[in-house]
Amino acid sequence: MNESPFQNEKQPQNSQKNAENQIYYNFVLRNSAISAVNLLMPMLTLVKSLERRFSATGIDNAKRVAEELVAHVLGCMPLEIYLRDEAPSLEQIQALEKLALRIDCGEPLQYVVGHVDFWGLKIKCDPRALIPRPETELLVEEILTSKIWNHKPTTLVDIGTGSGCIALALASQRPDDHFKATDLSSEALGLARENARQHGLENKILWLENSLLERFAPASCDAVVANLPYISTRDWKGLSPSVRDHEPQSALDSGPSGMELIQELSTQARYVLVSGGMLFLEFGFDQGEAVSHCLSSLGYLNIQIKPDLAGHDRIAMAENP
Ligand SMILES: C[S@@+](CC[C@H](N)C(=O)[O-])C[C@H]1O[C@@H](n2cnc3c(N)ncnc32)[C@H](O)[C@@H]1O
Repeated sequence: MNESPFQNEKQPQNSQKNAENQIYYNFVLRNSAISAVNLLMPMLTLVKSLERRFSATGIDNAKRVAEELVAHVLGCMPLEIYLRDEAPSLEQIQALEKLALRIDCGEPLQYVVGHVDFWGLKIKCDPRALIPRPETELLVEEILTSKIWNHKPTTLVDIGTGSGCIALALASQRPDDHFKATDLSSEALGLARENARQHGLENKILWLENSLLERFAPASCDAVVANLPYISTRDWKGLSPSVRDHEPQSALDSGPSGMELIQELSTQARYVLVSGGMLFLEFGFDQGEAVSHCLSSLGYLNIQIKPDLAGHDRIAMAENP
């Protein structure tokens, strides 16, 4: 016999649990061709059902997307979702359905969950700026291990800062250096400043709405770093819809050749960098030769081209004479 003084309160809880199980059951069945719903392993079944739904709509990495989405809604890490043995609540299922619909429409996962991890920092993501890519962390790594980083204090400018990821990663390492970050897009700069505020770095960086290095004084920077648009307009048209239709064209499309902005920035940086100052560039997987040629014809010294983790040329470094 149950002697709990709260006996009467148990009843609604049980029926609520049953109702939630039913909601979860319906959601899983609606999502996929799964015929048996396993109430003992609700999270595994939930992820599997979403994975099937996303695979059927042609979403890449459907399992990872499903796990990230469920983890986002539960407020935990993706691996932790399998440790949970309770069916999700009504609110969680409703939230999941809303987000899953956005994934169905091809919106990138990072915009749907609203953030990405970059250099250990949580960076807010939305359509105002490009989603930071893992390759760009290599650019940060090259700067942090370069000789210029040993000079103190360093004056460094991040051109085309977008979400602010590069400038913030660097400023988080040495907040007392002199950092500047520019972008042509005021919307991107707004997002970058929100990210900086989130990490207590807004006042450590001078934010400028500017085209490339225009209006910078001669010999005023020790280092210039940029991940500028490097895709030709023709190639931009052929990008996957989740990139082309959701991320800003102005963050990707450089013009007819793809090299326009890299060429123009490299030309300007020759005057803005101090003697011995360094230029760091990220570029497209097939542009290594063109970038190297561009830098040597402008007179840069010690030009190095470094690959990304897939073995494609990706990063250039060069010294101003
Ligand atoms: C490829 S995104 C990179 C964003 C960020 N740095 C990153 O690595 O994720 C290129 C950025 O350059 C900006 N941009 C395009 N043309 C520019 C120009 N002429 N001057 C400054 N920024 C520019 C775009 O608005 C966009 O934010």
